[in-house]
Amino acid sequence: MMDRTTYDGVRKAALADPEEFWAARARVGLHWFSPFRTTLEWQAPFARWFADGTTNACYNCLDRHLTGWRKNKAALIWEGEEYQQRILTYQELHRRVVQFAAALRGLGYGQGDRAILYLPMIPEAAVAMLACARLGIIHSVVFAGFSAEALRTRIDDLGATLAITADAGRRRGRIVPLKKNLDDALSECPGVRHSIVYRHTGAEIEMRERRDLEWADLVAGAEAECPAVPVPSEHPLFVLYTSGTTGKPKGVVHSTAGYLVQVQATMEWVFDLRDDDTYWCTADIGWVTGHSYIIYGPLAMGATTVMYEGAPDWPRPDRFWEIIAKYRVNVFYTSPTAIRSFIRQGDEHPNRHDLSSLRLLGSVGEPINPSAWNWYNTVIGKSRCPIVDTWWQTETGSILLSPSPGAVETKPGSATLPLPGIDAAIFNLKGEPVPDGQQGYLVLRKPWPSMLRGLYGDPERYRENYWSRYPGVYFTGDAAHRDSDGYFWVLGRVDDVINVSGHRMSTMEVESVMVRHPAVAEAAAVGRPDELKGQALVVFATLKGGATPTPALGEELRQWVGQEIGGFARPEEVRMVDGLPKTRSGKIMRRLLRELVTNRHVAGDTTTLEDFSVLAKLSASDEDE
Ligand code: PRX
Repeated sequence: MMDRTTYDGVRKAALADPEEFWAARARVGLHWFSPFRTTLEWQAPFARWFADGTTNACYNCLDRHLTGWRKNKAALIWEGEEYQQRILTYQELHRRVVQFAAALRGLGYGQGDRAILYLPMIPEAAVAMLACARLGIIHSVVFAGFSAEALRTRIDDLGATLAITADAGRRRGRIVPLKKNLDDALSECPGVRHSIVYRHTGAEIEMRERRDLEWADLVAGAEAECPAVPVPSEHPLFVLYTSGTTGKPKGVVHSTAGYLVQVQATMEWVFDLRDDDTYWCTADIGWVTGHSYIIYGPLAMGATTVMYEGAPDWPRPDRFWEIIAKYRVNVFYTSPTAIRSFIRQGDEHPNRHDLSSLRLLGSVGEPINPSAWNWYNTVIGKSRCPIVDTWWQTETGSILLSPSPGAVETKPGSATLPLPGIDAAIFNLKGEPVPDGQQGYLVLRKPWPSMLRGLYGDPERYRENYWSRYPGVYFTGDAAHRDSDGYFWVLGRVDDVINVSGHRMSTMEVESVMVRHPAVAEAAAVGRPDELKGQALVVFATLKGGATPTPALGEELRQWVGQEIGGFARPEEVRMVDGLPKTRSGKIMRRLLRELVTNRHVAGDTTTLEDFSVLAKLSASDEDE
């Protein structure tokens, strides 16, 4: 922990010479098989960090901890939804990863191959990710809540040849048929040669000969040795699909060395992680937070990371607090949406448990409203744990704006200051920094090691999405302002991306699924502010001739979206309407719909509307409800 003066000194020096700053971090932070000599090659918007060095993410997360006392330290503490418990030491986790990597190598997979991981929150998810990393296989974890169709498009885009799954997952006592979903997806993905199945729940599944392989058989027959393969720094460690502003998800590509250097550094600056800490991040490994702050960051640090399989309120609303008390968790990292649901459930649930082990609390995923912040601070942190409100994105790879505990005083609702080496600013439309207090677009003016390296197979979209608004400057898609203390306040997205319970969703993706339904002619999806979820998804739809708007059809359309994307994307509400408000050029005016669902009437500028009667009708039907 640093004091403010020391910390400001570090930030100042880092900004004066970011390359030297990151090079120094990289030299001490990672094990290098061959050291790098060049730090950054920057041909905007393409960055290469430490490019002539070689390293391996799995080696850095496991092997290097085995030579000292950490070999018998708990690396992973796993709690199953049904209260099962597994604790894997560094040595034990390493042994399992080596076995599984040897099995993958035996099947012929190696550097540059792509694997889809569709797994529940179980230690084997960590084993599979690390085994891929060990061999240089690029992994792409698909959140287990995604449907077969969403899985298929990702396998397809990635050109994956290997899939790793489990028979099923558990969620609130129900079984999630992962293998069955994968089978459905693979029926249209001939490029996948093998799917490896871990038996987790004992659910009945079909195994297809030759293609489907049992995890247990594979590791039983695998060789005992499988050294980590040195890969170039820029070798992609993983691709993670996230929602963008079109119907097609974006495959965000992350590198090996730059990514690892910065997730590790932020573990230190943000979580002030100590060797005797028990650290728990409640995210799912299907999202970037799970990658960076359950697996790669904590393990690179040699920390003890907790992984919980199930839902926060299962079987009772105090499950999280029970886990904190049971494992004496010191650092706890969760989302505002979870915090808001805890508030609703009542203080008696946390109050029943001993939370005195907690030292530091974190928040991520969306702006945290001051009342949730205050509750988190008093009821969970007992007013003695700093709260780190961490702003970042799938694309940034690691936390970029956050207080550093001890050094930076917090203000409820602000992610405070950019971390060392991060050049954040707020721009107006013309690309000029706005005065303090004025709202604008959050941008990053200099490349950083854990930044995305591109969108898989689509350099044009990468350039267009992030770098076209301000040449050479990264556009985050978030609105923000900075106060007179230099603190950043991130307000939310400015594009067609909405944030439902911390899950990023593309309104365009939902719309393109809606119009595939035989009854739907046109659809427009918007976010409505929601006390619990941050934003709730509302979809307006016009129907094809012959279809009648009934409550049953509305429900069918909700379920349709859930089935096509995943349950978490099921709209809160589907409104069937006669027409959608459009501009003269035929563009749907989502802004008006947003206002309609937010304020129940439209006050904004409507002069570009083609047909006012459509809007009048929409408002009228809204008043009727
Ligand atoms: O709008 C910001 C919001 O979440 C977006 C990134 O979403 P995703 O890539 O899914 O990553 C989530 C986990 C890193 C951002 O563009 N966001 C994330 N954290 C915060 C936030 N908004 C305000 N405050 C935060 N702490």
